[in-house]
Amino acid sequence: MVVPTLATDVESAKEDFCSRYPDYQQTQQLDELRAKDYARLDQTHHIYLDYTGGGLYADSQVKAHTQLLLDNVFGNPHSTNPTSIVATHLIEHTRAFVLQYFNASPDDYIAIFTQNASGALKIVGESYPFNKDGHYLLTFDNHNSVNGIREFARAKGAAVTYTPTLPPDLRIDENTLNKNLDRADPNAHNLFAYPAQSNFSGVQHSLEWIEIAHAKGWDVLLDAAAFTPTNRLDLSLYHPDFVTLSFYKIFGYPTGLGCLIARKSALKKLHRPWFAGGTITVASVQGNKHYLHDGAEAFEDGTLNYLGIPAVEIGLKHIAAINVETIHTRVTCLADWLLKELVSLKHGNGNPVVKIYGPTTMQDRGGTITMNFFDPRGWFIDHRYIEAEANKANISLRTGCFCNPGDGELALGISAEELISCFIKRPDALTIDDFRRCVDAKSTGAVRVSVGLVSNFNDVYRFVEFAKTFVDKQV
Ligand SMILES: Cc1ncc(COP(=O)(O)O)c(C=O)c1O
Repeated sequence: MVVPTLATDVESAKEDFCSRYPDYQQTQQLDELRAKDYARLDQTHHIYLDYTGGGLYADSQVKAHTQLLLDNVFGNPHSTNPTSIVATHLIEHTRAFVLQYFNASPDDYIAIFTQNASGALKIVGESYPFNKDGHYLLTFDNHNSVNGIREFARAKGAAVTYTPTLPPDLRIDENTLNKNLDRADPNAHNLFAYPAQSNFSGVQHSLEWIEIAHAKGWDVLLDAAAFTPTNRLDLSLYHPDFVTLSFYKIFGYPTGLGCLIARKSALKKLHRPWFAGGTITVASVQGNKHYLHDGAEAFEDGTLNYLGIPAVEIGLKHIAAINVETIHTRVTCLADWLLKELVSLKHGNGNPVVKIYGPTTMQDRGGTITMNFFDPRGWFIDHRYIEAEANKANISLRTGCFCNPGDGELALGISAEELISCFIKRPDALTIDDFRRCVDAKSTGAVRVSVGLVSNFNDVYRFVEFAKTFVDKQV
């Protein structure tokens, strides 16, 4: 149980925090916004620390979207009837706004609406012209939806190579990456995929890799899903071929919409393995032929989420009005304080309470902090127990490996040999509990907290108070 703290404790801690982080004052507008537009958070006493899982929406976004739906009649787009034209116009307007938000020139880039980041990744994976001379290079640090592209690559005979990240900071092993980048066959198609920000460790991998990889003959897929909620991605400065993201991670509402922002030149390389309603100009049964649309439509299967898409523009305008740099500053201050507090937390015998997986300073990292808790003897405490205890304190955090097994295995010290032998023992199916027993004495998951758009000092303070309840605790 968390011992309730006196209000004065948090107030004096906040005073100290504000004097140590003067930049935080510049983000005060977010406190006003939270009180006005996210009041339900405090009314329901939630400590929300899962922004990397999903962003939170403002009341005003939902109201503006509802009003739009109430004031208009929208029909299925891409027809010439009046209700269809209104829907088509809003979709195209939103498409243009997405490019504008990311400073992507419409001469070079196209925005393709998808269901989520995974949907965008799948389009690239299934359509990329891998062949036996081609190569799919990726970092250990990747979401499973990026790892999954290896199945498309292998099915077409392409080589698949992983570049490790190095514990404890879990940054890319630069020497190995440079060597791997040298392995592109200039006559084949080569795809390099990495995340702008890790959803496991919070590490921000350098965007300079994009041009380095281009120069060595690679197309670059930048997974920006965990980066875009708290950082500016400026596509006039960086030119990845494919950028993938989910809108709910940036502004909470609506779910079910993501985007593939693709360079027109790279898009020409993709071959869709099928066609669907909406993706063709003409398809014939007896003529046994079809012509794909030009541009975005060729990749948007079936009827678009035409009622949801206008809410994307509302959401992006909401973030633009705040200014993503303000969010970035706040997240940096809060995460830095949190890291320092967690690192300094010790049991009576001097052993650490928490081990952080990833950098412990804010240099090139975001507000996603992953850790495990340890008892005074140095034994890890099961992350599922931590989650159950956090639930009692109304703290929303996340545990497991966050769909990022590569970084998880490296952080937790689980070797390739151990993993391969576990899979050999149970070739049919390995449940997560089999897996836990198989790598006995090692944790198979971790605890992740992440700050975002309307996080405040009270949120991180409450988490530190929660962490303190494990000091000198035998579990
Ligand atoms: C870095 C990263 N990439 C991809 C994804 C997949 O996003 P979605 O589940 O919205 O498709 C996530 C989700 O957490 C993520 O953090």
